[in-house]
Amino acid sequence: MIVAQDVHKHFGAFRAVDGASIEIRTGSITGLIGPNGAGKSTLFNVIAGVLEPTSGRVTMDGEDITGLPPHELFHKGLLRTFQIAHEFSSMTVQENLMMVPGGQSGEALWNTWFGRKRIADEERALRAKADEVLEFLTIDHLTHEKAGNLSGGQKKLLELGRTMMVDAKVVFLDEVGAGVNRTLLNTIGDAIVRLNKERGYTFCLIEHDMDFIARLCDPVIVMAEGKVLAQGSADTIMQNEQVIEAYLGTGLKNKTQDAAAEA
Ligand SMILES: Nc1ncnc2c1ncn2[C@@H]1O[C@H](COP(=O)(O)OP(=O)(O)OP(=O)(O)O)[C@@H](O)[C@H]1O
Ligand SMILES: [Mg+2]
Repeated sequence: MIVAQDVHKHFGAFRAVDGASIEIRTGSITGLIGPNGAGKSTLFNVIAGVLEPTSGRVTMDGEDITGLPPHELFHKGLLRTFQIAHEFSSMTVQENLMMVPGGQSGEALWNTWFGRKRIADEERALRAKADEVLEFLTIDHLTHEKAGNLSGGQKKLLELGRTMMVDAKVVFLDEVGAGVNRTLLNTIGDAIVRLNKERGYTFCLIEHDMDFIARLCDPVIVMAEGKVLAQGSADTIMQNEQVIEAYLGTGLKNKTQDAAAEA
């Protein structure tokens, strides 16, 4: 579905992404791992239209999408979540979800008499959709909670929920499990698997937690120093000498568990 060919992203003389090529197969849950600073988020940002590549090409279903802005990619069904959650903290969880879809008749028709009924209908449909999403994610008890009051893990679920308000095809998740406790991490993992199986979402996820990656992802792509180092099943990756080498010093370990233990 997504092919990134020989992508470079340089910041001055520094090569954050240095000729990376990856393929994300339709229907897969592809993992992207690598030590801190490997260029994973930067590559995501290039694919998701947040950053222009210095060079290289990105296609989606064969169509060149290099350099398209995020809102255009959004309409093509390519969505990403951020390493840091972006919620509207003073709005409720339900309202946060209702903010997501574009292209309603809202603004333009706001003052017209005929528009009112349509707006009310759309709002009702949006609210119903948001409620369905919250139920799917098993956080319907938080519907009317202010998003700012959610725990880190609940905010990550809300981020995932936002991708369900539209007809997403491929979703990029940047460390959706970071700092999340075990229980919520399992909920997030289950939601990803169900979205993949039941709704046909293709996923690409960056994660440091190898248990999480091994449970969900096939294939797993390993990046180091801006390049793709290896690709394969989680098992093969974890036995790959070069991969172990790349992780020496940073440690191929379970960050999420560490973070949860600290909390
Ligand atoms: N806007 C920028 N300007 C300069 N350097 C940047 C910029 N963005 C990222 N970098 C650098 O590029 C490198 C890759 O960063 P990136 O965020 O892609 O790594 P990552 O693999 O996502 O790491 P982590 O696992 O810590 O999130 C890092 O050394 C980072 O400091
Ligand atoms: Mg990152």
